[in-house]
Amino acid sequence: MADSLIDLSGVGMTYQAASGPVEALAGISLEVGQGEFVSLVGPSGCGKSTLLRIVAGLRPATVGTVTVGGRTVAQPIPDIGMVFQAPILLKWRSILDNVLLPAELAGKEKRAYWARAHELLEMAGLHGFAEKLPRELSGGMQQRASLCRALLLDPPLLLMDEPFGALDAMTRDDMALELLRIWGERDLARDQRKTVLFVTHSIGEAVFLSDRVVVMSPRPGRIAADLRIDLPRPRTVELRASEAFGQLSLEIFRTLTGRAVGATGAA
Ligand SMILES: Nc1ncnc2c1ncn2[C@@H]1O[C@H](COP(=O)(O)OP(=O)(O)O)[C@@H](O)[C@H]1O
Ligand SMILES: [Mg+2]
Repeated sequence: MADSLIDLSGVGMTYQAASGPVEALAGISLEVGQGEFVSLVGPSGCGKSTLLRIVAGLRPATVGTVTVGGRTVAQPIPDIGMVFQAPILLKWRSILDNVLLPAELAGKEKRAYWARAHELLEMAGLHGFAEKLPRELSGGMQQRASLCRALLLDPPLLLMDEPFGALDAMTRDDMALELLRIWGERDLARDQRKTVLFVTHSIGEAVFLSDRVVVMSPRPGRIAADLRIDLPRPRTVELRASEAFGQLSLEIFRTLTGRAVGATGAA
């Protein structure tokens, strides 16, 4: 792909655990285009988090090549925002100071990012919570704050590892819409949007958010299917009730479970 931002070719990963080698990923070749929203779904332990860590440069792949923005990834890459399942906010710091952390860690002048931090907090509906401590916020609000933190330095690439996994279903749906809004689904051209690699357990969430859904096989994780989600944007809540949405979800479900067309739940 001419405009691919992430390019994985023949990537494999074997951990050397105390109990012996654990092959987490095998033969992963994947391209993610600039501005594309791609979700990874797959059974627990199939190597989704490992794949994100490899793209981030936090772990080297055992085999294969990984490039981001045309450069081989050999060490942690600076221009990314990462969001995990738990918000991982520093509990003794205010929400504002948590959001400002990436600027501090990058050795930048914190003051230069105040306006941006406040803007993000406002956008995430956290206006008025800047001076609160994390424990004074609900789980959903803390997760929104960690999303603000990931966006502070305006990284072109967002890596999200089951970011809404710990939230209740309604908050989770709200967060999905919020994420698409922040991503610029309505107001940015595709090439201006951030590239997002999003891990989720939820098929519905993956279909709702993504341009593409990559389905992984059980460990060692391989790519079992790579589906284009040609649903109109901006995505709306109503879309979930459409036939196209249901068909795509079913196709992913079948790939994940290996169930044939027409198979019943008992099959
Ligand atoms: N640091 C590690 N050392 C040894 N094995 C690991 C390590 N991290 C993950 N694994 C193993 O690699 C496999 C994939 O893990 P992970 O990437 O966390 O999967 P997922 O995110 O899809 O649940 C699992 O079997 C897991 O136990
Ligand atoms: Mg994981």
